[in-house]
Amino acid sequence: MKIGIIGAGSIGLLFASYLSRVFKVSLYTRTEEQAKEIVKNGIILKKKTIKTQALVKALPLSEWEGSEDLTIITVKAYQLEEIITKINRLSDTPKKLLFLQNGMGHLKQLESIRHSQIFVGTVEHGALRENVFTVSHNGEGVTNIAVYRGDACVLTELIETLPSEFPIVMNEDYYKMLVNKLIVNSVINPLTAIIGVKNGDLIKNEFYFQTVVQLFNEISILLNIENPDYHLEKIIDICNKTAENRSSMLKDIEANRKTEVDAILGFLLEKAKAEFKKAPLIECLYLLLKGKELGKGDL
Ligand code: PAF
Repeated sequence: MKIGIIGAGSIGLLFASYLSRVFKVSLYTRTEEQAKEIVKNGIILKKKTIKTQALVKALPLSEWEGSEDLTIITVKAYQLEEIITKINRLSDTPKKLLFLQNGMGHLKQLESIRHSQIFVGTVEHGALRENVFTVSHNGEGVTNIAVYRGDACVLTELIETLPSEFPIVMNEDYYKMLVNKLIVNSVINPLTAIIGVKNGDLIKNEFYFQTVVQLFNEISILLNIENPDYHLEKIIDICNKTAENRSSMLKDIEANRKTEVDAILGFLLEKAKAEFKKAPLIECLYLLLKGKELGKGDL
């Protein structure tokens, strides 16, 4: 099976590195320079003390034609518009598309794709891009995937062929799968980004932990979560397992990049507005993050 991967950030590099062990992978990058560096050096994957090199085909995004059996889109939610415009302009519709974004803001955008085979997923790995061709895999997790539109056949091949150290888990209900990840991201990401701490500090510091609980309670009421204790435990567990990691939103703020706040808290605020509900903590964090983003480029 031929796989295309769009986006060579930490997740794009991580997927290209593992998937190229069993599939023919083409990685599409934002810039021509990055593609050249990847062709020259391969992708260097660092895991604990082990370094491996994956030799993959790398090309600038302008050369993507959707000819692979499956294309995995790993760009940030706010970069999707450009990709979706490109998808809808392709003369041959791409075969199958898997979208791996944080948050749920992108669901609305997926509706506009004419294509019939669309999947969505959530990534629970900790990964850090060290330079344009090096990624460090510092938190082992799973990738959850589900059908958004179409049937699951290509996903079955993907799941069955992948090495066990990079598991992909099939989910029946894409909405539930995305909500589960949204709950985690809407608590950990904004708080770590505003306070400026690693994930583990949210539970080690009793005062920060109180903000975790209060924010979680507001989200839980807004989303009508059936089993709040389970979800709060899950957040605590992720903070423990990724204690030394900086959340993706904190990394974006530190690097002066745009964040995924619209796809995460923005989605929750739209829901609150539509249902005439109040969400003061979510709104406050949303505004603080938008304020921090002000004037920062989309690097
Ligand atoms: O976005 C992130 O950083 C991650 O999804 C998570 C799970 C919050 C861990 O850092």
